[in-house]
Amino acid sequence: MRSHTCGELNESLIDDKVTLCGWANRRRDHGGVIFIDLRDREGLAQIVFDPNRVDAFTIAERVRNEYVLRITGTVRRRPEGTENPDLPTGQVEIVGQQIEILNVADTPPFQLDEKAHVSEEIRLHYRYIDLRRPEMLARLQLRAKTNRLLRHFLDDQGFLEIETPMLTKATPEGARDYLVPSRTHPGQFFALPQSPQLFKQLLMMSGMERYYQIVRCFRDEDLRADRQPEFTQLDIELSFTDENTIKNLMEIMIRKVFKEIKGEDLPEPFPSMSYKEAKRRYGTDKPDLRVPLELTDIGDLMENVDFKVFAKPAKDPKGRVAALCVPNGKALSRKQIDDYTDFVAIYGAKGLAYIKVNDINGGRKGLQSPILKFLSDKAINGILERTKANTGSLIFFGADKAKIVNEALGALRLKIGEDLKLVQKGWKPLWVVDFPMFERDEKRWTSLHHPFTAPNIEDIKALEDNPGACLSRAYDMVLNGEEIGGGSIRIHNPEMQATVFKILGISEENAREKFGFLLDALKYGCPPHGGIAFGLDRLMMLLTGASSIRDVIAFPKTQTASCLLTSAPSAASPEQMRELHIRLRAQKT
Ligand code: AMO
Ligand code: AMP
Repeated sequence: MRSHTCGELNESLIDDKVTLCGWANRRRDHGGVIFIDLRDREGLAQIVFDPNRVDAFTIAERVRNEYVLRITGTVRRRPEGTENPDLPTGQVEIVGQQIEILNVADTPPFQLDEKAHVSEEIRLHYRYIDLRRPEMLARLQLRAKTNRLLRHFLDDQGFLEIETPMLTKATPEGARDYLVPSRTHPGQFFALPQSPQLFKQLLMMSGMERYYQIVRCFRDEDLRADRQPEFTQLDIELSFTDENTIKNLMEIMIRKVFKEIKGEDLPEPFPSMSYKEAKRRYGTDKPDLRVPLELTDIGDLMENVDFKVFAKPAKDPKGRVAALCVPNGKALSRKQIDDYTDFVAIYGAKGLAYIKVNDINGGRKGLQSPILKFLSDKAINGILERTKANTGSLIFFGADKAKIVNEALGALRLKIGEDLKLVQKGWKPLWVVDFPMFERDEKRWTSLHHPFTAPNIEDIKALEDNPGACLSRAYDMVLNGEEIGGGSIRIHNPEMQATVFKILGISEENAREKFGFLLDALKYGCPPHGGIAFGLDRLMMLLTGASSIRDVIAFPKTQTASCLLTSAPSAASPEQMRELHIRLRAQKT
């Protein structure tokens, strides 16, 4: 249908006759001459129609934005002064000789170059038009390129790409399952996989040794800017391996991606930090190391102060009292501090005490703070010393259960980093390691990673006796504050696996029912193995600089897990429901 793409036109084609296909990006009438900017995937070409060529001109007059066209003409150099240096094809244009309207188009619901004024709702409703915008096309192209690169890398390293089922049994990764009713087994349901975790482990037991898959995962959880109900993992598993081998290989892969996609050099090796240290210094297990602010523990200085708000959590083993010192933070106004107080309240913080350091050598008089009256000189000096405060600093405080303080000050750290433009340029990857094996919620132990992750001790009894003290062999890859991947060495001993289920409060019967196939498989010769999964959408978000995960997915879901384009989910017909043996309960109104 065409001889060239729009984007490939250049001066080497001058005087050649070309045929192009594409969409009318814009049509302009210039005193009798018609210009059409024709757009295809590869770029834009300018075509000029002269009234002397009556047939073509008459058709060109009918063209409107987004009409689909086929145009034949001769390439010529643009007249001097009309070149467009911003356009790769901007040195040439085509003198249109024939034009064929392949399809007409209604007026688009939004201009393709006016993104800023279009709501996301409209964009998602007309996603096929939104994807015509060069910015969206570029993101999907980069995504395809990244996938290709990852595949090549893993193929070269001897990994086999193997598909695993979508209609399956629940895989616990901490979210709710999406269920699919079975027509042939009344009252029974498949679960869509939260990850291929169990199957990739079974593949290791099958002797596949090195597996990968670019695979869709489904999780019914509360959505945020970096989460989707269905998302894509680059899922990887290896046999006869250990943490260092896996981490090294994955670093090489991610460094290669950043080098080839962005021309950026990531550090070699990636730094590593324990979970405990990350929480202590940054309040989170996925710290953004580009922000040069840190939390400082001051609990020991506050145990005996006259301020209950601080003294109580300082004495509580589950409490935390921490400071966040902002150099030059003194410039923050009262209003800004009040806004930050409202901000930390989102995370459950009951207040946001602070000390402004007007003069570090001025003693108490050099400080300004609503809590000064409660603090002894010793406590004050301790705070100033430990936070390395200086004249001009502003120190914020959080005192509460450790979880609240970590979340509140951790988020405040990022917000202030952004507001005061402290975020450094570049890429700061980090391995977070030495996660606790279990976390205690109200009544029971839960896995921090997933229940198939190996503890870092082999002694089953020691694990059972003190689950809270045990660390796991898990590792997360964090990049600029995003958790882009996570994995672990797995349990390959059936007895250890059964013990972990027991600690998690999964009865033997329940474990058999849910994971009997895995417990059986472990008995038939399971190699030591481990792996990792990357959130590809999150990785693409970082690579493209998109601010939402939805901007790197062709057809994403909204924050409420619906598709505005297709109106999914939607009601099923009574016939379908009957076939599936499902009757709806009366909806509460
Ligand atoms: P995990 O649950 O940490 O591990 O998931 C791996 C990575 O997937 C990404 N991710 C998501 N991305 C978008 N939307 C979501 N809702 C979402 N949930 C997770 C994150 C995360 O780091 N089976 C294990 C991996 C393993 O142990 O090998 C697993 O799924 O970037
Ligand atoms: P109050 O005595 O309640 O007026 O509090 C004195 C200061 O401590 C105020 O600046 C409050 O914002 C702050 N504050 C109160 N509760 C906390 C808390 N849990 N953590 C940090 N600061 C707090």
